[in-house]
Amino acid sequence: MIQLKTESEIEILRENAHILNEILRELIRASRPGASTGELNDLSERLMLDAGVESAFKGYRGYPASICTSINEEIVHGIPRDDRVLGDGDVLSIDIGIERHGLYADKADTVIVGQPLEGTLELIGVAREALRRGIAQARSGNRVGDISHAIGSYAQSRGYRVVKQFVGHGIGRAMHEEPQVPNYGSPGRGAKLVEGMVLAIEPMVWKAGDEKQEWVAEDGWTVMTPDRWPSAHVEEMVLITEDGPDVLTDMGACS
Ligand code: MF3
Ligand code: CO
Repeated sequence: MIQLKTESEIEILRENAHILNEILRELIRASRPGASTGELNDLSERLMLDAGVESAFKGYRGYPASICTSINEEIVHGIPRDDRVLGDGDVLSIDIGIERHGLYADKADTVIVGQPLEGTLELIGVAREALRRGIAQARSGNRVGDISHAIGSYAQSRGYRVVKQFVGHGIGRAMHEEPQVPNYGSPGRGAKLVEGMVLAIEPMVWKAGDEKQEWVAEDGWTVMTPDRWPSAHVEEMVLITEDGPDVLTDMGACS
């Protein structure tokens, strides 16, 4: 069942998204060469405590940290560590989820640490444009497949591949609600979108090398690109309204 949100739930979701943005902004600011992902995780825990919110990730299916930090060929679900130090040119994806007043917020962004290496700005640009195109399809009367197709076909047209094992999702009183929102698919297929739905749309892309897909590392969490291509992951929470998509997690120019 797809849960439609009430006005009061939407108000809290909006507040939560705002809090999440402020925390993510701080984490991105702290993502400098020489900082470790363990330090970023510690900082996220302090900021969440100060804001009076809980990490949605910590303990989720046994996940051991409060945020995910995925570097270069790590696509998503990288586990922060004190001995994982950021270097110049690293492509860092930070994924953060919080819970407050029984409602969740979830967002991810990808930034370059220090000076960009060749191709990495394009990589992030493709992920963001895929997300923008997906969001543009998040309108009542459309279907989930319209979002999926917009993301997947754009990434493919730019010579990029998308993650298939992990998907976007409805979000609200649970971090993961129906419907699933894959990053590839056919227009006109899947659940119909209606006002009051909130979706976390989250393309995960890398430059296509060969036909291989992503794989999960020995830690049971970190999702990796084949052939160690760097990857990007961006995620926003979108409310479907009569006026079109309303990006709850929009923070304007952040990085
Ligand atoms: N942000 C991820 C998602 O959108 C969830 C992270 S998995 C966790 O589904 F284990 F870290 F929580
Ligand atoms: Co998500």
